[in-house]
Amino acid sequence: MIVARTVADARVALADRRDGTIGLVPTMGSLHAGHLALLETARRECDTVVMSLFVNPAQFGEPSDLNGYPRDEARDLERARDAGVDVVFVPATDELYPPGYQTWVDVIELGSMLEGEHRPGHVRGVATVCLKLFTIVRPDVAYLGQKDAQQVEVLRRMVADLHLELELSVVPTVRDTDGLALSSRNMRLSTDERARALALPRALATRDPETARAILDAAGLDVEYVAVAPFHPPVLAAAVRAGNTRLIDNVTLEEKP
Ligand code: PAJ
Repeated sequence: MIVARTVADARVALADRRDGTIGLVPTMGSLHAGHLALLETARRECDTVVMSLFVNPAQFGEPSDLNGYPRDEARDLERARDAGVDVVFVPATDELYPPGYQTWVDVIELGSMLEGEHRPGHVRGVATVCLKLFTIVRPDVAYLGQKDAQQVEVLRRMVADLHLELELSVVPTVRDTDGLALSSRNMRLSTDERARALALPRALATRDPETARAILDAAGLDVEYVAVAPFHPPVLAAAVRAGNTRLIDNVTLEEKP
């Protein structure tokens, strides 16, 4: 497995692999079984699998959230190697955002609802870093998790709007046996918070926004939003706080004929 820390090194590592298909799995590390499902799908479908590992400051709001984001590069590299990744791109912050940096991608409407409304700048940060990764790696397919349904929808729009030559492949949400969607943030939950957080998948499973809100309120979760989002397919999506930990989840709804 090649570990590329600069854009130039990543390009060199991929130069002689462009005859075959290249799959990209963008991540912020702290790899769990959700990320591994993306890597496995990419490994099955592509000749070369690239994983990016970059905790993107541009998509974080509060500095405490960025600084507190779990990081364990050695463990992530080991997991990537076990998953059969060919190239890991691990840039330093300065490599992607050097001094003087000032170019951003705004996906206007999709970027201002739900996550965009509650996390100003977040969607812009995601779209911008993904466009960079797509430009650096030039994958045939990028693998994304349904867990972040709005991220998928925003990137789909960006790919269409900017005529990017890649396909997005969406992998179903991986859940713990108790139903909680896997997230690197779950490790911050206390026992009591985790028990209450289980109301999130339970509420969404009703597929009804009012019933879902009542269940979330009753569990003592702080609801930021629970709403039907006009994605492809539509989803019932929610963001809640259990103590200081913010959790998001969604379930797909039937597309109206
Ligand atoms: P991160 O949270 O590390 O997630 C990387 C990818 O894993 C995303 O596509 C996400 O949707 C997927 N994923 C996370 N939890 C999952 C789960 N339980 N089941 C299935 N897939 C899951 O999302 C990001 O990083 C960043 O925004 C990124 C796209 C890398 C841009 O910085």
